[in-house]
This record gives sequence, C-alpha cells and structure tokens, in this order.
Amino acid sequence: MKVCKAVFPAAGLGTRFLPATKAQPKEMLPLVDKPIIQYGVEEALAAGCDQIIMVTGRGKTAIEDHFDTSFELERILEEKKKTDLLKVVRQISDMIHLAYVRQKEALGLGHAVLTARELVGNEPFAVLLADDVIDAETPVLKQMMRVFEQVQCSVVATQIVEGAAISAYGVLDVKPVEGHFGGRLYEVLNMVEKPKFEDAPSNLAIIGRYILTPAIFDILTKTGTGAGGELQLTDGLRGLLKKEKMYAYVYEGRRHDTGDKLGFLKATVEFALKREDLGGPLREYLRGLKLD
Ligand code: UTP
Repeated sequence: MKVCKAVFPAAGLGTRFLPATKAQPKEMLPLVDKPIIQYGVEEALAAGCDQIIMVTGRGKTAIEDHFDTSFELERILEEKKKTDLLKVVRQISDMIHLAYVRQKEALGLGHAVLTARELVGNEPFAVLLADDVIDAETPVLKQMMRVFEQVQCSVVATQIVEGAAISAYGVLDVKPVEGHFGGRLYEVLNMVEKPKFEDAPSNLAIIGRYILTPAIFDILTKTGTGAGGELQLTDGLRGLLKKEKMYAYVYEGRRHDTGDKLGFLKATVEFALKREDLGGPLREYLRGLKLD
C-alpha cells in the first residue's frame, strides 16, 4: 500500500492568534514570505503525495485563492517583466491538484479528518497539521513514509518533550522496537490527551503528522465527543489501537508551533536567518539590539 493522499485539516478557529485570525486563516500567516500552509503542502509533495485534500471552513477562501491561478497578477507581472516573481507565483498554482471539503462547524480535529472521508476513500492517507512547521533535512512525512512502507500500519510522529511541558500534548505509552530505524521506532500501546505531568506515560508527545489506515473513519463515526466538546483525533486513534497495530516514530528535525504567537516569532527569526537574502542583514540587526 502506498500513501498518495494528504489531508490538511485547516478549519480550526485559530483563537490563539486573535485578532490576526479574525478575518484571515492562521494557515495564511507568512513565515518570512510564504504562508504556513505552503510549507506543509511542499512537505507532502516531497514525500510523494500527489493529491492534497484541504479541510476548510468559513473565512478560509484565502487558502483556495493562494493555490489558484491569479490571471490578473500574472498579467501585471508579465507586463512589468518581473519574471522572477512570475515564476514564484506560477510555481504555487502549478504545484498540484487540490481538493477542498468544508467542515461546516469546527467540531474538532477528529471531525475534520472524518469530513475528508469521501475524498480519501479506502486507502491509507497522511494527515498534516500545518501549524507544526518542521525544518528537516529529509521532510518529516518522507521519513514517516519509509516507516510505513515497512510496517504497513498507522504511524504517528512523535517528539521528546522534557518536563511539565508534556501536559500540553497527546502523550504516548510505548514499547521500543529494537533494531529498526536507529532506535526511533516504537510500538504504541496507548495514548492520553494532555495528561498531568505526573500521570504522563512517557515523554513522547504526538506531533502534527500522521499516516493513518482508512479504518480510522469507521472508528471516528463511533467515537463520542471528548475534551472541549470536540471529536478528538486522539480518542479515534485510541479506538484504532484496539483493532490494529500502530507505531510512533521520533522524527529528525526541528519543529515550530506556529499556531502559537511565540512559536511563530521564533520560527520567523530562524527561517529568516537561514535565508541567503535576509540572513546577513537580520543577524546584524539582531546583534545591534540592546537586550539585557
Ligand atoms: P488547533 O488545536 O490548533 O485549534 O487545531 P485551532 O482552532 O486551529 O487553533 P487555536 O488552538 O484555537 O488557536 C489543530 C488543527 O486541527 C484543525 C486546525 O485547523 C489545526 O490545523 N482543526 C481543528 C480543524 O480543521 N477543525 C476543527 O474543528 C478543529
């Protein structure tokens, strides 16, 4: 089984980023000069997915416009002979075929995934939460595809989170799989959403990249609402665990939670510092700041 479809749940309200997200989706906030969601789409393409499914909601049309052809803009850039910019703009709309499905109400991440059911069909698929922008030599979803090729079961991305900060995540109870993927692979035994530090079964947090088997859909239809009155993906995954094996993979890369203001600022600085055109002057500017 090969994974060709990548689902991007992008129908959340983005309350942590208000007021910026009142009239524009958080997925369109730019990290330097590229919307957050484009980093995720590029990762999915690099991992070999050729069908992108966006789950959107009210006020998210900017996402559709971003990946669409902009004839007017292209004409103006052509007239002004701005060929470099024209190339950048065309690359985005030429990227790939995208399908959109609407989640009418933000009823939770599990519900958003379920909304993509008809477009996904009966095959394994990837889920990427665009907020988690991961800077990695090998795109994280590609790392996970290698695992999936071997195990042919659902795979969740995980990261070690030290100390009390673990309470902000879904946390895994696991058993190491010896001798595979350099000690980065675990079999998942259970998972708990946002446990107290003292109750956390490990320091392995679930991160926003998943490869799931289609069995998750039936399970989600039978999963009741959980924390916050929402249909939680974690609850669905726990149901899936009762039927199928699941693996967790400690990815290689540096993750930024860009749905959080401080995380977004840190990502902006780090990504800009890596840029050939901006890194030098930004470094100079930062050095000149009188920080105490
Ligand atoms: P978050 O937990 O980040 O929630 O959702 P949010 O609403 O987007 O943002 P905050 O916490 O209020 O600031 C995780 C992912 O699930 C999607 C979001 O778009 C995000 O990619 N999601 C969440 C949906 O698509 N639908 C939902 O009902 C909830």
